[in-house]
Amino acid sequence: MSISIRQVGPCFAGEVEGIDCSKPLGDADVAAIHAGMDEYAVLVFRDQPLGDAQQLAFTESLGEIEQAIATSLRAPDELRLPTTFADVSNLDKEHRPFARDDRRRLFGIGNRLWHSDSSFKAVPAKYSLLHARSVPSKGGNTEFADMRAAYDALDDETKAACEGLVCEHSQIYSRQQIGFFDFTDEERERFKPVRQALVRTHPVTGRKSLYLASHAGAIVGWPIPEARCFLRDLMEHATQRQFVYAHEWRVGDLVIWDNRQTMHRARPFPAEEARDMRRTTLAGDGPTAEQAAA
Ligand SMILES: [Fe+2]
Repeated sequence: MSISIRQVGPCFAGEVEGIDCSKPLGDADVAAIHAGMDEYAVLVFRDQPLGDAQQLAFTESLGEIEQAIATSLRAPDELRLPTTFADVSNLDKEHRPFARDDRRRLFGIGNRLWHSDSSFKAVPAKYSLLHARSVPSKGGNTEFADMRAAYDALDDETKAACEGLVCEHSQIYSRQQIGFFDFTDEERERFKPVRQALVRTHPVTGRKSLYLASHAGAIVGWPIPEARCFLRDLMEHATQRQFVYAHEWRVGDLVIWDNRQTMHRARPFPAEEARDMRRTTLAGDGPTAEQAAA
C-alpha cells in the first residue's frame, strides 16, 4: 500500500487514498499517517466499512487509547459501547434515538459548540478518530477549524496578549452557554475545571496554535467577564470561514483530527433520526499547564 493525500480544506484537511483501514498497518503506513496529521491536522478516509474491533485495532496501531470514562451523562449501565469508544451518537442502549428532552441528548448537543475533545481533562486528547456507521438524511456535518492558521493570522499585539495565558476548561462552562444547568452534585464534582495553556506548540512541526474550546470559561488571574469576552473574540476570529473545513459524512467515512491543532463542532440534524458515530481517541502526552492544587 502506498498512501497519497490530497488537500480538501481551505488551508488544511486532506483526503487519504491507498489504504484499507481494516487491515493491519505497516510501519511505513503508520509513519505516513502521522506525517499527514502533522501537516494537514485532519485526515479523511472514505469508504472504510469498519467494525468496532477493526476501528480499535487501527487506532491502537497509531498510539495509546484514551478511555471514555465518566465524561458524559450516561450512567455506566446505560452505555451502548465499551469505554474504549466515546459514543457520540444520539442513541440509547437499545440503539433508539433519545427523546428530544432527554438530558443525555441535551448535554450531547453541547458538541454543536466549537471545541477540542477532552480539553476538560488535565491530560487532553491527541487525535480523535470518528467513524460513521449511520448518518441522518440531512445535516449532521462536522466542521473543523485550523487553529494554527488562526494563530498565524492574529496581529502581533494579540499574539503577545495570549502568550503564557492559562484557561480553565470544564463541560459545565460549555453547557452554560446553551442554557443547560441540570447537573447533579456528583456531576459538578466530576466536571471540575482543569487548566490548559492558551497557546500550544506542536511537538514535531513547531507551529503554534490557539488552544480554544467552548469548555474554556475562565483565564487564570483575569476577571471572568473580561476573560469570556477575550475568549469569545478569539473564537470568532478562529472560526472564520477561511479557516474552516466542513465534512459531509457518508456511511463508512473515517475522519481523524488532531485536537492539539484544531477545533470542531457537529451541526444539527433531525432529532428523530439516528446518527451513529463512534469515536476512538488517542491519549495526549501530558498536561499543557500546571494544575491548581486540589
Ligand atoms: Fe468532539
